[in-house]
Parts: sequence; C-alpha cells; structure tokens
Amino acid sequence: MVNNVELLHEYHPSLPKENWWRDNTLCQINGFWFLPKFVPSTFRVLNEFKPLNNDVILASFPKTGTTWLKSLLFSIIYRSSKESLVNHNPHELVPTLEVQVFGRTGPSPIAIDNIDSRRLFSTHIPYQLIGKTLDSSDCRVVYITRNPKDTLVSMWHFTNKWKNVEDGPWPIEEAIEKFCAGIFPGGPYYDHVTGFKAASLEKPENIFFITYEELFTDTNTHVKRLAEFLGCPFDKEEEVEEVVKSCSFDILSSHEVNKSEDFPSWFQVPYNSFFRQGVVGDHKNYLNAMTIERIDALTRDKFHGAGFIY
Ligand code: A3P
Repeated sequence: MVNNVELLHEYHPSLPKENWWRDNTLCQINGFWFLPKFVPSTFRVLNEFKPLNNDVILASFPKTGTTWLKSLLFSIIYRSSKESLVNHNPHELVPTLEVQVFGRTGPSPIAIDNIDSRRLFSTHIPYQLIGKTLDSSDCRVVYITRNPKDTLVSMWHFTNKWKNVEDGPWPIEEAIEKFCAGIFPGGPYYDHVTGFKAASLEKPENIFFITYEELFTDTNTHVKRLAEFLGCPFDKEEEVEEVVKSCSFDILSSHEVNKSEDFPSWFQVPYNSFFRQGVVGDHKNYLNAMTIERIDALTRDKFHGAGFIY
C-alpha cells in the first residue's frame, strides 16, 4: 500500500511508461497502469479525497460491470431512481472520483462537499493504492469483478469505439498480449482483483465483493444482499424487482441518453459504447481455444491460493 503519496506526486514526470495500443501510452504508478490524462487526478484522489463514514464507493477494474452496478447502487440508495435512469447515463449519476470529481474535464455533477444525501462515487484505482484512503473511514465499498476473458474482449470492443480510430480496429492479438502482460488501464487485472478480494476477506463488513457472473445469474438475490450491506434493506419483493428491471441491460440500453452517439465531456467514447452485449461468455466468439487455455492457465496461476473462482 502507498505510504507516501506526496512522494509519488513529486516523481510524476518520471513515471514508467509503456505503449498500450497505437499511440496510446500508459503510465505506471506503483505497479499499476493508468491513462496519462488520469494520472494527476488519481494523485489528487489519493491526496485529497476524504471519504465520509456513510459514503458508498463502487470500485472496479474497467469493463467488469461498472455501469450496471452504478445504476443498481444508485437505485438501491436513492430508491425513486426510475426517472433519473431514463434521463441520465449511469456514469453521470455516479461520478468516478478520478474522472469527473477530481479530473479536469469540467465541474462534477455532484458537488463533492455540498450534498445532503448519502454520497455515491466510483473508482478504478486499485486497493493497493487507494486502500489507505478507503480504510480511513467507515465507508462502504462494493467491488465488482468479471471473468478475465470477457473483460478483455469487452475492453477491446470499447477501445475500438474511441475517438480517432479511423485507422481500423486494434488487432485482438495485440490486446491479448497487453492484457496478459498486465498492461491495461487499471492493470494488471489480476493484481487489481486480488487486492480488493483480500481486503474484502479482511473487512467483510466494509467491503462487498461480487462478480458480474453472480449478479447476472441471480440479480434479485444479490440486489437484496447489497441493500442489506448498505444498511437500506428492501421491504417488499416488488421493489427489488422494480430496481432489477429498470437497471436491466435491455431497459437501460433503450433510453435515448444511453443510445446517444454523442461524446460526454469526461471521456473519449460515445455514450452508447457502455452498452454492448451484456452477457456472460461472449469471449468464446472472439478468442480461439489456444488463447482461452493460455488465459485460463494464467488465471489459475494468479488466483491460486486467493480462494478464488474463474
Ligand atoms: P460487454 O462489452 O461484454 O457487452 P463497464 O460498465 O465496467 O465499462 O463494463 C461494460 C460491460 O458491462 C459491457 O460488457 C456492457 O455491455 C455491460 N453492461 C452495461 N450495462 C449492463 C447491464 N445493465 N446489465 C448487464 N451488463 C451490462
């Protein structure tokens, strides 16, 4: 865990760099890779963010179900959320600390220190860096992860939607190599997951760990568990069903705001790129048997001993 964030800040210009894809570079902070534009805001989060005891922080590696869980957590906490979900992309309802809140892309949609209701933020910063900050209060953290092969394929599609990709898509072979080498935004994926997994085992009352696949298989049960974890359980089963339905892939992706090809002020992808297939196992349509075996072997190696699935 980072002991001296100030020190890291000082060394920012000399952070290690690696090519990720095309002319996109990633910068390394304490073993984890970040898009350069989010490096200053990541340091700001680590230096300045003071979680309150009743804050809720959704943490995730990119492309593991963040958008879905943002809509679910927003609905669980604020309940009458249907209209908000129709009119706003989930990323604008639940701002990301290092993007909208501490970023330079414009004012935060939720003024960070000026909100009466419970605050709900998200982050992709790994526990190894942000753990000290999160542990400094009694805030609740919800971490979602996803099968690494689906995560990789989802990210590959997502990057192909970025602005300025006229030169054609990113070859998937390159994406596989970078993923396996850990050179992905927020990566290495395996370290990101095991950091939060270990923390959730140590502090289960503060850190809730869930997989996309669990949520997919039995959404109602896990939405109820989440509500209980957050101290706001549902009274009626119909309420749970209502939340699950309004956050389902089909309903969410049908709203005009989520079908939009416009680009938000805070990132270089159109709004509609946060909704693609929303299924489990889509990697089988993109990865060959050898690649699947290669990633499975890596997964066994990395997650072995972590009491972990996949
Ligand atoms: P696919 O690319 O496999 O379809 P993130 O939100 O962390 O960026 O993850 C994006 C992935 O979650 C995408 O996966 C996207 O389609 C899927 N997703 C978005 N909204 C969802 C929902 N309501 N239910 C299930 N999956 C959803």
